[in-house]
Amino acid sequence: MGEKIILLYSGGLDTSVICRWLAERGNEIVCFAGDVGQREDWVALKKKALASGASKVVVADLRERFVRDFVFPAIRMNAIYEGRYLLGTSLARPCIAQAMLEVAKKERASVFAHGATGKGNDQVRFELAAAALAPSLKVFAPWRDREFLAEFKGRSDAIAYARKFKIPVKATLAKPWSSDENLLHISFEAGMLEDPSARPLADMFELTCDPRKAPNQPERVTLAFHQGFPTAINGKKLTPAKLLAEANRLAGRHGVGRVDIVESRYVGMKSRGVYETPGGTILLAAHRDLEGLTLDRDLMNLRDSLIPRIAANIYNGYWFSEEMTAINALVEVSQRQVSGQVTLELYKGGLIPIGRQSPSSLYDHRVASMEDDGGAYDQTLATGFISLHGLPLRAQARRAALAAKDKNRSPRKGR
Ligand SMILES: Nc1ncnc2c1ncn2[C@@H]1O[C@H](COP(=O)(O)OP(=O)(O)OP(=O)(O)O)[C@@H](O)[C@H]1O
Ligand SMILES: [Mg+2]
Repeated sequence: MGEKIILLYSGGLDTSVICRWLAERGNEIVCFAGDVGQREDWVALKKKALASGASKVVVADLRERFVRDFVFPAIRMNAIYEGRYLLGTSLARPCIAQAMLEVAKKERASVFAHGATGKGNDQVRFELAAAALAPSLKVFAPWRDREFLAEFKGRSDAIAYARKFKIPVKATLAKPWSSDENLLHISFEAGMLEDPSARPLADMFELTCDPRKAPNQPERVTLAFHQGFPTAINGKKLTPAKLLAEANRLAGRHGVGRVDIVESRYVGMKSRGVYETPGGTILLAAHRDLEGLTLDRDLMNLRDSLIPRIAANIYNGYWFSEEMTAINALVEVSQRQVSGQVTLELYKGGLIPIGRQSPSSLYDHRVASMEDDGGAYDQTLATGFISLHGLPLRAQARRAALAAKDKNRSPRKGR
């Protein structure tokens, strides 16, 4: 080939083998790793990339960018996939891709490569992000390449190849599942989780304690928002990444944010995933709660109707699409008044909102009150309101009654 290739490098066996394999074919390899908050030995990762034949390694600290530009905007949209998945990996992929493409441009790379498999969502997310941001960059996906596949049929082939080229292989026993971590979540899939009826092992979880072992006292947490974006936790103003880390800590110790689902991958199959999203779970719940106080009913309805669409766009890799730009414009307007704070109580894996306040509240105590409202709301008007809204229902009921009468009359009787 003889190209300059930027490789999305995660420091594992697969991407190290891919790096060496591409270098052996006369390509120049720049490894790119994105720090989105996963616990990783970055010094060791850099060393390993160089030992695997990279001419250069770039590690980008994306923690603030990830939370500010991807996680918080998604929470602001109440994005949730198939009603339950908070999109932790789906949001990290376009962030990593965006930063990688900036480096690819600077390095004048002509190809980017990744180690995502041909069965998953991540290949789609990386490549659709590149299609939108760097349409002329070529892609090489070794797990879809016949020559590469012929050489690497299983893990043992990769280990043998690594040994041959003195790439360090971690001696630790492979866990019976695979995981992906960032500041928003840890995901677990594959291995023993491939049986959707099998309960995950208790010691798999890393960010949340077992709800049964959580403190016996509930804990209050107050989350503040400005125009839909989280700004403070328990009165402390923090940067997005620090705020999310603190939310993770508080929610995690009460066992909040575990999700175990079977989801629909974009490439077609059903897949079982287990997620821990402690901080994201409480931020989403608090944001939703604040909207109850501040967001107009019909605007909420319109925005809510878009949530499945928004979530599918994020899940399927269309973060950088024109459609998302249009949706963002609507969300932007919807969030202008979503400022204030919400207090939640965390207790044994659950959360309960217990109070909220906002300078831009739509709540009118006089109107809502069951006490004497001094004429703020004329109850007698409700008669006409209900009567007119009942008009179509009465028409339907009359039609149904006529049809029933017709049916009772036997069609032959009259002849
Ligand atoms: N933090 C990251 N920075 C750059 N690229 C990444 C990062 N995380 C993942 N990738 C890319 O995404 C691909 C798919 O990631 P995935 O997590 O499925 O596999 P992996 O990280 O290679 O292996 P593991 O199963 O050990 O996590 C990787 O092969 C790599 O190309
Ligand atoms: Mg990984």
